[in-house]
Amino acid sequence: MKAVYIDRFGPSDVLIHGERPAPRPGPGEVLIEVHAASVNPRDWLIRSGRYQMKFLLPKFPFILGSDVSGTVVEVGGRVERFAPGGEVYAMRPSRDGFGGYAELVAVRESAVARKPESMSHEEAAGVPLAALTALQALRDNARLRTGQEVVIVGASGGVGTYAVQIAKVLGAEVTGVASAANARLVESLGADRVIDYKAERFNDVLSDQDVVFDVIGRESPASCSRVLRPGGTYVTTIPRLSTGLEMLKSRLRSIFSSRARRSEVVLVRSDGSDLERLTRWIEDGRIATVIDSVYPLAEAAKAHDRSRTFRTRGKLILKVR
Ligand SMILES: NC(=O)c1ccc[n+]([C@@H]2O[C@H](COP(=O)([O-])OP(=O)(O)OC[C@H]3O[C@@H](n4cnc5c(N)ncnc54)[C@H](OP(=O)(O)O)[C@@H]3O)[C@@H](O)[C@H]2O)c1
Repeated sequence: MKAVYIDRFGPSDVLIHGERPAPRPGPGEVLIEVHAASVNPRDWLIRSGRYQMKFLLPKFPFILGSDVSGTVVEVGGRVERFAPGGEVYAMRPSRDGFGGYAELVAVRESAVARKPESMSHEEAAGVPLAALTALQALRDNARLRTGQEVVIVGASGGVGTYAVQIAKVLGAEVTGVASAANARLVESLGADRVIDYKAERFNDVLSDQDVVFDVIGRESPASCSRVLRPGGTYVTTIPRLSTGLEMLKSRLRSIFSSRARRSEVVLVRSDGSDLERLTRWIEDGRIATVIDSVYPLAEAAKAHDRSRTFRTRGKLILKVR
């Protein structure tokens, strides 16, 4: 099968578009014929050798990518929920390797969900890693509830565009932090207010917020403490030693006082039942994918270069078939 893989770390020209052996589904796995995959910043961090959790990486050569949307072509033993012909999408768990930038990928059943009927494969491929991150950060780390106020810093990117929509589904009042060029986009996703980070610092103008979701990881618990009400939560996507330590300290403090501000780091989990929940919200018209650009699989290097600019509006998609 055709795939995009690496046999060493380096710049985007180490990506090889070539032939790799087709996978077979093991017990409990679903073999997916991939129509579209998506590119996440993690993919080029892995490719460049800068991924923090390098110990999770398979041996070279390996195929990059975790998000896929496609059609089931075969199922392994014990698979109960899916059958050949079904349209599905998935985030392949890191512990199983990556493998999404390919014509075929085998994914364990627990990570797979029914693809939303209302979405094309390109739109659906954008969802898994980014929307699961947003859902798990807001629901699990921040424990966001109806009527609360949340700030989404980095509201126009892959995770941020889903985070704004999911926060609205969860019933929150949403302030998006984005550049003026993306303000309309963020409002169209449901944000009640947009702050242009190039014109003013949200830290200077907001207070009494229940949650700050720092999608792009440029802030810190300290820089957001005046923005949060007592008992409020700062959640970041970037697992740094300092935020990890702050998270442990804040958990200890919150045992003794409900007014202590909490710090959290989201680490996305591949989870088919969370993805099924997203499918239902998508089919109800409550969540959409914003596509920045679509590239043929063979041009994955261009998509990586675009992702590295950190200027994408929504998601970068690879069209596989
Ligand atoms: N821990 C986890 O499990 C996990 C999971 C998913 C993602 N992540 C990490 O989360 C980060 C975001 O991922 P992503 O897919 O959303 O990235 P992305 O799509 O590449 O984000 C790009 C967006 O960030 C915006 N941006 C850049 N600088 C900004 C600033 N100073 N203030 C506000 N917005 C700014 C850009 O808007 P402008 O062009 O207008 O500046 C652009 O729309 C990445 O570092 C990724 O590795 C971690």
